[in-house]
Amino acid sequence: MIKINDHFLDLKNSYLFSDISKRVSKFQKENPDREIIRLGIGDVTKPLSKTVVKALHNAVDEMASSETFRGYGPEQGYEFLIDKIIEFEYKPLGINLERSEVFISDGSKCDTGNIGDILDVSNTVAITDPVYPVYLDTNVMTGRSKIEFLPCNQENDFAPSLPKEKADMIYLCLPNNPTGTVLTKDQLKVFVDYAKANKSLILFDAAYESYITEENVPHSIYEIEGAKEVAIEFRSFSKQAGFTGTRCAYTIVPEELIGYTKNGGAINMHSLWLRRQSTKFNGVSYIVQKAAESIYTPEGQKEIKEYISYYMENAKIIRDGLESIGIKTFGGVNAPYIWLKTPGNLSSWEFFDLLLNEVGIVGTPGVGFGDEGEGYFRLTAFGSRENTIKAIEKIKKMTF
Ligand code: MLT
Repeated sequence: MIKINDHFLDLKNSYLFSDISKRVSKFQKENPDREIIRLGIGDVTKPLSKTVVKALHNAVDEMASSETFRGYGPEQGYEFLIDKIIEFEYKPLGINLERSEVFISDGSKCDTGNIGDILDVSNTVAITDPVYPVYLDTNVMTGRSKIEFLPCNQENDFAPSLPKEKADMIYLCLPNNPTGTVLTKDQLKVFVDYAKANKSLILFDAAYESYITEENVPHSIYEIEGAKEVAIEFRSFSKQAGFTGTRCAYTIVPEELIGYTKNGGAINMHSLWLRRQSTKFNGVSYIVQKAAESIYTPEGQKEIKEYISYYMENAKIIRDGLESIGIKTFGGVNAPYIWLKTPGNLSSWEFFDLLLNEVGIVGTPGVGFGDEGEGYFRLTAFGSRENTIKAIEKIKKMTF
């Protein structure tokens, strides 16, 4: 008899964004003439930049010639990309990394899920609430059931408190998805100090760091002293350079990071992740890594800056528009997400239905990210300028 992984039965029926997409498809089928503006899933809408497209074409040409063709690449990623990441992303922050500490991958969603392979099922887990659903779901799938939620709400200014129970693993996503809020360096230091004192691991998702506009907001957890001993950092080209459909990301596992065996023996976690990746993953394609590398040319950097400002201008349009009709908003200053308090005390899903049915706008119900998200709603700044303006003008005409 085939036995399934019973833990899958502990999951909610479907993944949040698949659920939304099914509801929207149904609406579209029933209302084929209605225009729909999608500000739900955080998927980018601007095409790849000229420099990236050129790099892709060149890499394809290389693959077409027997002199320059490449098969399997190095499992951790090509040095040409790893070196650029170290030089452009970390050196300016005063962080020194070895090549061996950077693992190129096909996405932070996969990495934040897969990292669980090297962590014991008995670990206690602290997860902020609301939260990007992947952290919770992947732990549930594995059977890690001792989970403490750290509420983030208006009362605590979206700054989670330390876990009440001793946590072995702590997930932090900063700038935050879904609330778009951030922690200062001092606030983040509290978590690093906690992790050091309790031999915990911080899983730090920095997928949105390139959207930070304010000073004193850490771009990397390694800006905090001692963080290399306790943290793994996840970063991605998806939101930074429009790679959601192209797929390229990286994870930093410092050599100093120590985990413990059941008997309390200290083990270098870097070697475990290397073993996991070289066994289950064959790397990101050469073509895509060349595309990612191209964002570190002067022209590539200029394009990326323009790209990010375009979305951040959308964020401002959304915030200003909603605030002008008395809807309270959060985020959208250091992140491409706007977290709003639903008007008229509507529940998250009631507001979702209202927006979809009345004005054809798709957002994400806050409660889909956790109980603390009830009564909130997320809009993304990743739409086109035209659609963002249109959506906000439509919402401004609604009565709640
Ligand atoms: C989101 O909408 O929360 C993100 O796009 C999901 C993701 O990056 O996987």
